[in-house]
Order: sequence, then C-alpha cells, then structure tokens
Amino acid sequence: PLNKLKEGLTSVSSSEELKVAASFDDNENESSVSITVVGASGDLAKKKIFPALFALYYEDCLPKHFTVYGYARSKMTDAELRNMVSKTLTCRIDKRENCGEKMEEFLKRCFYHSGQYDSEKNFAELDKKLKEHEAGRVSNRLFYLSIPPNIFIDAVKCASLSASSGSGWTRVIVEKPFGRDSKSSAALTKSLKQYLEEDQIFRIDHYLGKELVENLSVLRFSNLIFEPLWSRQYIRNVQLIFSEDFGTEGRGGYFDNYGIIRDIMQNHLLQILALFAMETPVSLDAEDIRNEKVKVLRSMRPLQLEDVVIGQYKSHTKGGFTYPAYTDDKTVPKGSLTPTFAAAALFINNARWDGVPFLMKAGKALHTKRAEIRVQFRHVPGNLYNRNFGTDLDRATNELVIRVQPDEAIYLKINNKVPGLGMRLDRSNLNLHYAARYSKEIPDAYERLLLDAIEGERRLFIRSDELDAAWSLFTPLLKELEEKKIIPEYYPHGSRGPVGAHYLAARYNVRWG
Ligand code: NDP
Ligand code: BG6
Repeated sequence: PLNKLKEGLTSVSSSEELKVAASFDDNENESSVSITVVGASGDLAKKKIFPALFALYYEDCLPKHFTVYGYARSKMTDAELRNMVSKTLTCRIDKRENCGEKMEEFLKRCFYHSGQYDSEKNFAELDKKLKEHEAGRVSNRLFYLSIPPNIFIDAVKCASLSASSGSGWTRVIVEKPFGRDSKSSAALTKSLKQYLEEDQIFRIDHYLGKELVENLSVLRFSNLIFEPLWSRQYIRNVQLIFSEDFGTEGRGGYFDNYGIIRDIMQNHLLQILALFAMETPVSLDAEDIRNEKVKVLRSMRPLQLEDVVIGQYKSHTKGGFTYPAYTDDKTVPKGSLTPTFAAAALFINNARWDGVPFLMKAGKALHTKRAEIRVQFRHVPGNLYNRNFGTDLDRATNELVIRVQPDEAIYLKINNKVPGLGMRLDRSNLNLHYAARYSKEIPDAYERLLLDAIEGERRLFIRSDELDAAWSLFTPLLKELEEKKIIPEYYPHGSRGPVGAHYLAARYNVRWG
C-alpha cells in the first residue's frame, strides 16, 4: 500500500487500498508464503495474530499461496488448532454475508506442528511439512515469535538453521520486550544477529501499526497549517497519555519483571514521540524515516529521577465490589515495588524543541482507557480577548488532540464567539471524528504490521540503533529506581492516578489534559 501511496495520494480509494497489497509479486503463481506462529498456543497468538491473519485473508491481502502453521510445545492436531483459532476469529469486517465461508477457507490453510523451541530436529520436521505445502514454489517464510523472551534465541537459532527458506526470503517478527535495559537489549540483538541479518528482523511495536499513529506523519507533512507551528516557537508542551481501566490481570508474572516504564513508555509512547518530533524525512523510505527517528531519540536527555513520578495501584472498594491491588495478583511477589503508573518529563535538546516539555503518563487500573497525544499551544501574544477568560489563561490557548484510541479522532480546540448579540467566547472543537467521517472499520494494528512484514516494508518496525537509543534514555533511570528501591505512590484502583503526576506537570506549568 505504501508504494501505491507514493504513486499518488488521491488515486487510491479506501476500498482499493488494501487490495493493492494483494499484488505482491508479478509471479505470484510461482511463490508461496508460509507464516509460522511460534507460540501458537499462547494468548497473543489467539487474541491478535490469528485474527489479524484472518482479517488479511478476508480482505484478499494474503498471497494466493499461503499457509499458516502454529508451532508450540502443546500437543494439538490440525483440527484442534483450527477449533482453538476459530473461537477468536470474528466476522467484524463490514459484516459481509460470506464471512463464515471465508473463515472455513482460512482455517483449511491453518496447520499445527508440535515441537520444542530449542530443537533443531523439531524445526526440521516443520521444514519438511512447509515444503509439502510450498510444492516446489519459491518459498518465502515468516516466523512470528509469540513466545516469552527467554526462549527467543533458541527459537531463532532452530528456525534459522533448520527451517529457513532455501529459495526465497526468511523473516522473523520479534515481539517485545527487547531486553530490560541497554545491556540486555544489546545482548539480544547480538544473539539475533548470529542467525539473522538486520533486515530479516522485524521488531514489532504494535502502536506503530495504529491508524492515528501512522497518520501522524500525514498530518504533519501533508498539511501546510501544522508544520510551521510544530516547534518551540508555538508549542508550549506535548502530552503523551496512555491509560487502561484494568490492572495487569493474568500478566502479573511478566509485568512484575518489567513495570510500566518498560512496558509502555520506553516503546509505545517513545515511538509516538519520535514520530511526532522528528524532522521531515528525505522520503517515505523506511531507512529515511528511521534515520530521523534515531536523530530525535539521540537528541534527548536521558531521564533523571527528578523527572519522574511512579505509582502502583492499591485495592479499592466501590459499589460493594473490591477491585484488587496490584500485589493481590498471585503471580506478583508480595511487597513488589514495580510501578504500574509513571509520569515523566522528557526534553529534546535540538533547535526545534529546546525547552519544550514532552510529558508522558502511562498507567494501569486508572479510571479510563485511552491513548492520546495532546499538543498545547502558546498564548496568543497580546490577545485582545484575554479578558473573556479572566485569570484562567490556560483556557485561552489552542490544543490539538490526537485520540489514538478508543473512538479515534483528531480535534483542535479553538476559541470561538458564542453566537448572539454580546461578545462572549467559548472553547469549541474543530472535530475530525473517524466514526462519523469514515464508514470503513479501522484495521487492527497487527493486520497492518503483518502485511508490512510479508511485503518487506520495514517503516513501522524498530531498527536496532533506534532500540539502543531508546534504551539509553531509560536505562539510567530504571537502574536508579531499582537500586534505590524507590517506593511508588499508591493510588486506588480505578482512580486518576497519583497526585504526584500533577505536581510534576505543574513544575513545567502544565495541566494534564
Ligand atoms: P504466553 O505466556 O501465552 O506464551 C506463549 C506460548 O509460549 C505459550 O502458549 C507456551 O506454549 C509457550 N511458553 C510460555 N512460557 C514458556 C516457557 N517458560 N518456556 C517455554 N515455552 C513457554 O505469551 P503471550 O502469548 O502473552 O505473549 C507472547 C509474546 O508477545 C511475549 O514476548 C509477550 O511479551 C509479547 N506480548 C504479548 C502481549 C499480549 O497481550 N499477550 C502484548 C504485547 C506483547 P507451549 O507451552 O504450548 O509451548
Ligand atoms: C502491550 C503491553 O504492549 O500493550 C500491555 O504489554 C498493554 O501491557 C498493551 O495492555 C496495550 O495495547 P492496546 O493496543 O490494547 O492499547
């Protein structure tokens, strides 16, 4: 789809957009794609990967000859895998009548092989089965590592030694976490590169596949009105907000080893920040975009303890129901200090952004579920109308809100005259509400990313130097938090989070949106 985009923005109708992707190869009869979901019995595979593959199939975006293999240790037959997968496939797309039929067709292309992650022999058996399906065509192979990080390398080693393609490409999608800090991330990269070239590694950050995150560059670089304002001269602060209205439910074991800073800030929010703040890339080519992102990340000051507030949710009783504390999770060690909430102020030391606070806030078990970018602009100098706002000058400034989820929208808060004979101003929104503007359902981030990986489009995947730069910003802080055993501020499950986040923002004259 990107190539089509490069050819001409207006020539692609939304219904055509995805179909374009179906024309992968001129010789698609001679090639095949085998997608192996390693860890197919797991949560992510069921919840996201198989449904995304089905959605791509439904939209005719998968190549003519494709096979999906589930691989994991659990014993399962093909029929059992199909039964498991069928429970999470949905016919959400346009509610078309033939969805059930398409589902059956898709499931017939899904198979399962049980094996150990560290067994070259088991991967060689998989290779044999893949070859049968590939039937002598050029074989392109995609491995999706949907497994815990401690077994990434074993699986990469065995897949690359025993099941990589002999005639086409072999690519590996790696899920986060990419290490816990600079050192472990560098070690992971080094190990991966023993078996794979950098251009075979697709490090996924699913936030990059979200519609409004992808739209950031379009908004900035294809509209005259935003880019001239996109700097310290007009922007007072930028807020990147992630909140979930549920706790770590079921993932406490994983989460306790990582915490919210590694889980959300170092990747999802920082990636958004980089796209938001980068300079104009030379082209839409993946390397050009990623070069600019790396430059921004490397211009940032590593976080210090005083730039951060951390919190952890405690139990809370409401309407006779008690919502559990983080440490009530049986998989979380008693007395854990792992933050489930963090707020941070980051700065970019370059000519464009010098002195502008980028405030991040991420938390679990808060009062609402949302992901947003908020851009607060400066005051209008010598504003004739300031008196309409009394002393509350904050209210008089423009704010651009990019609501990534839920209910995607982009709106600009402007000051407007209230209709009537008098002169009274209020704040109103210029509102681009996606559900009202576009009838087509927004694809899940995993659909876009899987399609890109199949097409070899790397723009939305993380390059190793980006990853290094991202870890350099957070590693000293994480180390200090852990060494000094900093106690998080406790906040009630379902609340707005620790009050410390407001004090942090106030230090920079910011009010959270
Ligand atoms: P799971 O814990 O469900 O693990 C996936 C599969 O890996 C399991 O079904 C199991 O299969 C195998 N497995 C689990 N633990 C071990 C172990 N200790 N040793 C060997 N094999 C094991 O993971 P998820 O599906 O939740 O996540 C997969 C990856 O995606 C992880 O890296 C995770 O961090 C990442 N991720 C997950 C998200 C989610 O929402 N779940 C969101 C973002 C990233 P079997 O026993 O059959 O071999
Ligand atoms: C994952 C985190 O990367 O993103 C989870 O590990 C979090 O903790 C999830 O819940 C949020 O993703 P989304 O797409 O539901 O906002």
